[in-house]
Amino acid sequence: MNADFLITNIGQLVVVPPGAGPKRGREMRDLGIVRDAVLAARDGVVVAVGPRDEVMPGVTLCPGASVVDAGGRLVGPGFVDAHTHLVFAGWRHEEYAMRSEGRSYLEIAEQGGGILSTVRATRNATLEELEARSREFLDLMLASGTTTAETKSGYGLTFEDEVKQLEVVRRLKEHHPVSLVSTFLGAHAVPEEYKGQREAYVGSVIGMLPEIRRLNLAEFVDVFCDAGAFTVPETERILRAAGDLGFGLKVHADELEWTGATELACRMGATSCDHLLRVSDEGMDMLARRPLGDESTATHTVAVLLPATSVFLGKTRGAPARALIDRGAPVALGTDFNPGTCTALSMPLVMTLACSVLHMSPEEAFTAATLNAAWAVGLGDRVGSLERGYEADIVVFDACDYREIPYRFGWNPVSRVYKKGREVWSKRPVVED
Ligand code: NIG
Ligand code: FE
Repeated sequence: MNADFLITNIGQLVVVPPGAGPKRGREMRDLGIVRDAVLAARDGVVVAVGPRDEVMPGVTLCPGASVVDAGGRLVGPGFVDAHTHLVFAGWRHEEYAMRSEGRSYLEIAEQGGGILSTVRATRNATLEELEARSREFLDLMLASGTTTAETKSGYGLTFEDEVKQLEVVRRLKEHHPVSLVSTFLGAHAVPEEYKGQREAYVGSVIGMLPEIRRLNLAEFVDVFCDAGAFTVPETERILRAAGDLGFGLKVHADELEWTGATELACRMGATSCDHLLRVSDEGMDMLARRPLGDESTATHTVAVLLPATSVFLGKTRGAPARALIDRGAPVALGTDFNPGTCTALSMPLVMTLACSVLHMSPEEAFTAATLNAAWAVGLGDRVGSLERGYEADIVVFDACDYREIPYRFGWNPVSRVYKKGREVWSKRPVVED
C-alpha cells in the first residue's frame, strides 16, 4: 500500500465507522476506537488505518511522504459543522443586552431588529468586506477542528444581495481549506420592502431559484419555517420549486413554536431539518422511520440539533435529543454560528452542550459532530469518518481520550488539523527553540 502521508504513534484513534446511511440509535455509540494506531493516506484519501502492528507492514511510503508523530495523542476525523450562517456584516450585541434584560428574540425581531438588522448591515457591505470577515470566521472554525461546514445566505433577501453572499462562499470554497457546502436561504425573513406582501416575497424567492441553480451557487435550499417567519404552506411551495430544480432541501424547523415543519421536511425528503426544540411525537416518529429500499441512495432526513443556540437564547431546555436518538432518528450537531442567536463557532463547545444540556453521551456527540453531520450536508460517503476511502481530514487533539473533548468545557483541545492529508492548522508553541 503506497502512502504519501502517515500518522504514527496515535494513542487513541476515533474512526467513526461508516454505514450505508447516517447512524441511528445504538449505532451512534460505536466510535470504532483503535489504540496504538496508525493512519496512512494517499492523494488526500485514507488508504490504511488500524493497529500499528497490523497496518505498518503493508505500508510503503512514497518519496517525500510526510510522516507525523502524534505523540500518543487522541486523533479523530475533522468536525463537520452541519449548520452555519457564516457570511454577514455587523454584530448584534445591543440585542443580546436587551435579551439579558428579558426581551424576547421574537419581540426584538417584530420591532425591526433581529435578522432584518443584519440584512441592513449585509446589504451595505461589499463582497470583499464580507469575504475578508467570513475568512476570519472560517480560520477560527478550522482552529477548533472543523474541516467541513455548511453555510447559508439569507442576510441579503434581494437577488443581488443573496448572490453576493453566495459568491463569497464560492470564493472561500476555492481558497480556504475548510470545505463548504452552500445553501440558499432567501426565505429567512420577509424583507422590509415587502412588509405586508408575504405572498409576493415568497414568489420572489421562488423566482430567484432558477438563476441560483444556473449559476451553480448553492447545493441546498433552506426555509426558516416558524412563528414569525414562513408558514408551512409557504415553505412547501418554496421547497417544491427547489426540489423540481434539483436542489437538496433543508428546513429550519419547529424552533420557536411547533408548526409541523418537521413533518413537512420528512414528507418532502429533505436532507435535514434543523433546531427541533418543539418537534412533535409524530415528527420524531417520521425522522426515526428508516427509508425503504437501498439505504445508501434513500433519503434520510437528519435531525440537526443546535444546542449552542438554545443556550445562547437562555432556554433551559434544548431539543429532545434523547427521545430522538432512542426512537432511532439520525441526529447531527452544528453550531448555527450567526450574529443573532449563536456567536459560538466551536464544535467541541457544541459537543459539551450536547452532553450537558441535551443528555447525549460523548460517543453520540462525536458521531453527531462528524459522520452524521456529514450526512446532513450530503457528504456522508466522503467525510466525517477515518475509514479507508474517506478524505484524510484529521484532527490531532491535545488530549488522550475522546471523552475529554466534551468534558473540557470551553477549551480548544485541537493541536493540529490536516485537510486531505495536508497540515492546515497547528497550535505552535509561543516560544520556539
Ligand atoms: O438559525 N432561526 C433562524 N435563523 C437563525 C437566526 C438568525 C439571526 O437571528 O440572525 C438561526 O437561529
Ligand atoms: Fe440557522
